[in-house]
Amino acid sequence: MDHINLKARAKINITLDVTGVRDDGYHELKMIMQTVELYDGVYIKKIEKPIIKLKSNLEWLPKDERNLAYRAAALIREKYGIKEGVYIELRKAIPVAAGLAGGSSDCASVLYGMNKLFDLGISRKTLAEIGLTLGSDVPYCLMRGTALAEGRGEILTRLPSCPKAWVVLAKPPMGLSTAAVYKAIDRAKEIYHPNTEAVIEAIKDKDLHKMARNLLNVLETVSMEMCPMVGEIKRRFMETGAIGSLMSGSGPTVYGLFESRKIAQSSAETIKEEFGLRDVALTKIYNV
Ligand code: C5P
Repeated sequence: MDHINLKARAKINITLDVTGVRDDGYHELKMIMQTVELYDGVYIKKIEKPIIKLKSNLEWLPKDERNLAYRAAALIREKYGIKEGVYIELRKAIPVAAGLAGGSSDCASVLYGMNKLFDLGISRKTLAEIGLTLGSDVPYCLMRGTALAEGRGEILTRLPSCPKAWVVLAKPPMGLSTAAVYKAIDRAKEIYHPNTEAVIEAIKDKDLHKMARNLLNVLETVSMEMCPMVGEIKRRFMETGAIGSLMSGSGPTVYGLFESRKIAQSSAETIKEEFGLRDVALTKIYNV
């Protein structure tokens, strides 16, 4: 095998709760994660030259150590003494710096792909441990599907599959720094915590409406202050037929959940036009 083609899928948060701050400054989290179909294409090819060459359809994307996919390949080469190099091509479709784990998912795909391509036999557990050194969401991105993520995001418990739904993703043009959002939550006065157990119940019962009613992300209020469009898009999702809407991760992407593809499509078009957004995507829940 000299090359591999992978799909690095995006995730959304069904819930996100902060339960404490750790000594290392990271936040203790409790969140329900869900993969959606939208993906970045990740192509990895062995090359003789002992270098990592990264290419992407996005001109402005960093192609060096600042890119998690690059770092993943570099780390595996170094750790496992690989002489050959790799050429990696990222076909980005997931909005960048959006709360959709696009970078983490690309990183997870490169870890998975390097393991396969060089026949390294790295266990899932070790791969997840390596992934965690690169980013908090990487272990989940290796796992995919419906999961409860705790700790920094690395303590993962598989949940029953989330009920099927159409998902519209809408990203305001401004980016939000994850670190800044987490910092702001420490100073926030009003904090609304999700009822994680009720959502797990709803997922177990395949009760989409109950799940949709209980969507909650503790970071939403602080992100909304930094980017008011988050709240405005959320309101428009509900007015245009979504059964639930929430900001994903630390934002700023807001998603709407829909039972009908037709209503989802028309809501996506309305929101794209009204807010003049470039990044609006119609996708659906992806179960493993
Ligand atoms: O781990 P990752 O590099 O994705 O995290 C980016 C930033 O988000 C961290 O530097 C930290 O400020 C914040 N963060 C946090 N608690 C977490 C995950 C991320 O405070 N559990």
